[in-house]
Amino acid sequence: MMLFTTLLSLFVTSTLCAPTLGPQELIVIDPEITSPKSGDIWKAGTTQLVTWKTDSIPPGSANTTGLLLLGHPSTIHQDGKDYPSENLDIKHPLASGFYLTDGNVTVVVPNWIRPRTNYMVVLFGDSGNTSPLFTITHGSQTHTT
Ligand SMILES: *[C@@H]1O[C@H](CO)[C@@H](O)[C@H](O)[C@H]1NC(C)=O
Ligand SMILES: *[C@@H]1O[C@H](CO)[C@@H](O)[C@H](O)[C@H]1NC(C)=O
Repeated sequence: MMLFTTLLSLFVTSTLCAPTLGPQELIVIDPEITSPKSGDIWKAGTTQLVTWKTDSIPPGSANTTGLLLLGHPSTIHQDGKDYPSENLDIKHPLASGFYLTDGNVTVVVPNWIRPRTNYMVVLFGDSGNTSPLFTITHGSQTHTT
């Protein structure tokens, strides 16, 4: 839970602070995720390709490795307040240790995953970048990209 909170606040902080970074701050790599797209359907147990744009990755970050997590947005009620949560599954990364400059990584959708229509993947490098919402199903629908 501690690690989750830390990672989440890291994500929120880097997202919220990115536009105000001064010139001497770290360059924030913010690769746009191009797949999955909004409304895509992944079937549990299948292999899927996650892709992102690499044109904004500076040459100095050529060896930055990424971490890809599955999550879904919700609101957590705690101490009388509402907090947005990405519910990132840091215990079961979809992928890790790949190069951000690759622009893609192949993942296996876990068989035990709970079906939802509002999954997202978050790509971590220097910062976190979130995909649009998509579906994971155990039904007969398939979608390959
Ligand atoms: C990336 O790694 C390669 C091989 O170790 C090295 O030659 C290169 O200088 C590194 N590039 C950067 C930007 O760190
Ligand atoms: C995935 O990334 C690898 C490494 O950069 C590249 O060779 C390959 O063409 C990419 N595949 C797709 C489908 O983009």
